[in-house]
Amino acid sequence: MKIALASDHGGFRLKEVIKNYLESLGVEYIDFGTFSEDSVDYPDYALKAAESIISGETDRGIFICGTGIGISIAANKVPGIRAALCYNIFAAEMSRRHNDANVLALGGRVLGDELAKSIVKVWLETPFEGGRHERRLKKIAGIERKFISDREK
Ligand code: RB5
Repeated sequence: MKIALASDHGGFRLKEVIKNYLESLGVEYIDFGTFSEDSVDYPDYALKAAESIISGETDRGIFICGTGIGISIAANKVPGIRAALCYNIFAAEMSRRHNDANVLALGGRVLGDELAKSIVKVWLETPFEGGRHERRLKKIAGIERKFISDREK
């Protein structure tokens, strides 16, 4: 599995921690930036990394801003992205089991490093349950299609 990593300045420090953690687990990644604590706009990084997931260059993403809120909102504008903002291990597990989340959003100014690493581990290891949840994901994709086609009218 290859992970797309993205952050703004508020998530940069935690992104570096998660990068080292992925290396220790032997998980491949592409880092789409940002690469310093200089102020940047999180939608730019969410878009680049989300596009790599949709194109198949990467499989899933871990996106980090100060709270995780802005970068998850931006990521969820990309059709096919299901970004879940998780501040705890239970949410991370359920975001995979029930929602097949392909992006984990984290808050660099919210989470301690060890909790963030535990959230990442559970999120990477938990499979999607499918079944009734598949139907609900198809409905989410239906909402995306509705608004894409409405715009073309
Ligand atoms: C940047 O200051 C901050 O607003 C951003 O990292 C994020 O928390 C937005 O949701």
